[in-house]
Amino acid sequence: MIHISEIAQHDGKEVEIAGWAYNMRSSGKLGFIQLRDGSGVIQAVVSKADVTESAWEAVQEITIESSVKVKGLVKKDDRSASGFELQAIDFSLLQKAEEYPIGKKEHGPDFLLNNRHLWLRSQRQRAIQRIRWGITKAIYDFLEQDGCVKFDSPILTPNACEGTTTLFEIDYFDETAYLSQSGQLYLEAGAYSMGRVFDFGPVFRAEKSKTRRHLMEFWMLDVELAFVNWEGNMDHQEALIKFVVQSILEKYSDELKILERDTALLEGMNKPFPRLTHAQAVAKLKELGSDIGERDDLGGDDETILTQQYDTPIFIEKYPSEVKAFYMKRDPEDESLALCSDMLAPEGYGEVIGGAQREDNHDTLLKRINEHNLSPETFQWYLDLRKYGAVEMSGYGLGLERLVSWMCGLKHVRETIPFPRMLNRLYP
Ligand code: 4AD
Ligand code: MG
Repeated sequence: MIHISEIAQHDGKEVEIAGWAYNMRSSGKLGFIQLRDGSGVIQAVVSKADVTESAWEAVQEITIESSVKVKGLVKKDDRSASGFELQAIDFSLLQKAEEYPIGKKEHGPDFLLNNRHLWLRSQRQRAIQRIRWGITKAIYDFLEQDGCVKFDSPILTPNACEGTTTLFEIDYFDETAYLSQSGQLYLEAGAYSMGRVFDFGPVFRAEKSKTRRHLMEFWMLDVELAFVNWEGNMDHQEALIKFVVQSILEKYSDELKILERDTALLEGMNKPFPRLTHAQAVAKLKELGSDIGERDDLGGDDETILTQQYDTPIFIEKYPSEVKAFYMKRDPEDESLALCSDMLAPEGYGEVIGGAQREDNHDTLLKRINEHNLSPETFQWYLDLRKYGAVEMSGYGLGLERLVSWMCGLKHVRETIPFPRMLNRLYP
């Protein structure tokens, strides 16, 4: 048995392929079956004259999504996507599928999401999941080359990372635990051990947001770099994104074509990403008609209109400290600002990365923990890191679904993750 992706190596030879039928037609003596096996698609042509009676009967019985096995001769066919077709000499039905609920007609998003377990088989959804994997792999490759070590932060935690309003709380025997919002704090302990580290896994936010950018469970890459300040942090993010974009353009052009992604925009990623301060961004937003206040966080709409002005990602740095997390170091030139940056993707996509230099002074950090009404006891271990050889350290968190959404040119993050968890959706 071979995979469809290997078909070219078997030109003129007899092979066996197993897969699912996603389309078929029959004309008296000939059956045409479109097959997919996950690695590719190919047309199998079955001629009544070439196969046994029972094989021909199986061809007549076949329904959409039936699982099948075909033995046949590989022949060049320039009209087909794979460049080949299969001239069948034997055909068998592994399981005849019941009437498939997803047809060619338009379905609403609710119907598709209720049938997410089946919707994943469609060509577009397959392309998205393959690109998601390609992005993950490129991230691993970049970080390995960069000397980062993967360090797996825990998911069950006694403390909040990104504020207490979006925590999923669970019973942990006779204690309370929370599902992690980001592995960052633990990753800092890893960076004090190994210098440059990352984690990559699911994180959880009980956010009552119903936007095209929010999920309750999503995958975050956290990176933590010792001896790096907030500017070096941005350099690292920029290099990572350029590497990932290049890798996807090289390896996933077929998938990008299926998604009708305008790759010219992705190809233009080689120039420097503009860096604006929060104050500059606010001024620009006001020119663009936003009513954002001087010290406000950027809202979703602000990010949309701002990033529509650019054809590469941009960084917004030095946000007012009151709209950012407790662990961010303040700007020594203006203590009211945080040494942080958000990377916003172009074309209206908005924030994909949030990062900052970390507060490295024990007493200042303790003060911030108290100011944010967090309990110093649960953060004792985190404070300890500042007692034993504190250094300049920075890091960032990248939302995988936001990046996939931008790379694939999708309207909503719900299609980027196999099983989206949203405000009103926990099924399937
Ligand atoms: O900006 P955030 O909240 O940053 C942190 O969690 C830091 N602790 C990361 C760090 O410094 N290591 O989240 C990081 C990224 C965002 O930029 C966004 O891309 C994504 O995570 N994100 C979400 N993606 C989908 N749904 C949500 N509800 C998201 N919230 C954040
Ligand atoms: Mg953020």
